Amino acid sequence: MENPLFVRMDDESFTRISSYVTREYGIKLPVNKRSMLESRLNKKVKSLGLDDYKQFVDHIFSDEGREDLFHVIDLITTNKTDFFRESAHFHFLTEEYLPHYQSTFGRNNLKIWSAGCSTGEEPYTLIMALEEYRKRRPEVAYSLLASDVSIRVIQTAFQGIYDIEKIAPVPIELKRGYFMRSKSNPKLVRVKPQFRKKLQFKRINFMDNQFGLPKADFDVIFCRNVLIYFDKPTQERVIHKFCSHLKPGGLLFLGHSESIIGMNVPLKQIRPTVYCFEG
Ligand SMILES: C[S@@+](CC[C@H](N)C(=O)[O-])C[C@H]1O[C@@H](n2cnc3c(N)ncnc32)[C@H](O)[C@@H]1O
Repeated sequence: MENPLFVRMDDESFTRISSYVTREYGIKLPVNKRSMLESRLNKKVKSLGLDDYKQFVDHIFSDEGREDLFHVIDLITTNKTDFFRESAHFHFLTEEYLPHYQSTFGRNNLKIWSAGCSTGEEPYTLIMALEEYRKRRPEVAYSLLASDVSIRVIQTAFQGIYDIEKIAPVPIELKRGYFMRSKSNPKLVRVKPQFRKKLQFKRINFMDNQFGLPKADFDVIFCRNVLIYFDKPTQERVIHKFCSHLKPGGLLFLGHSESIIGMNVPLKQIRPTVYCFEG
């Protein structure tokens, strides 16, 4: 029997929402994503006291609904992430690439960007990897920008509070060094304040023409498991924008199922899903 509290999405409402999300955020929403969309937006429709998706769509595209429209993206984006996800990337960065990069270019002030940072596991993993690297190379300094299009995930990343199970992939010696137990809830841990302070946050939508960041300024950009949600031409445009923000010799890391095959971009593959900007 159908749940009486579940609201079905009609064809026209699905088309209006999906066209908007693809146009504004690049995220593809083919018809087979409709039930995912319904289940993610249902609570919002109910909380607004609306009876159907037609009313919901009219509301979010009206002047009064602007705020709610903004929150639709928080509900639609897929934010799955983990500490030390695709851990070979962090190993390659600090064990192989940075020592070579620093001796070749003499760059000790590294600028790193976690683009599409979700709830913070990726940029905090970068902090752990870089802090460990600095123990061997104390002359190295770094700054780390974490960005996402969703304000909700940026707020979580800023807080740096996680369920204790979430830090299972973190090596034991790093757990002690970088996290502290919550005093009020033993099931929670928090990134230590001196490491939380290392992150700068910014809301960036990759569909925007300008990201509000200086050109040729980053040594390393991680943009992993984000481009899979875009079509190929959009992926290529976004990668060109990343290249404009990389220094020559800098690196772009993509996710395990993403690639630049068939794209005309100034990048050379140096490892699976790791690309060097040739300038
Ligand atoms: C699956 S998570 C990936 C998180 C992390 N990079 C990782 O690999 O674990 C994808 C993130 O991309 C963000 N995203 C989706 N569309 C975006 C856009 N147009 N601009 C910027 N970020 C976007 C989502 O909000 C989400 O947090």
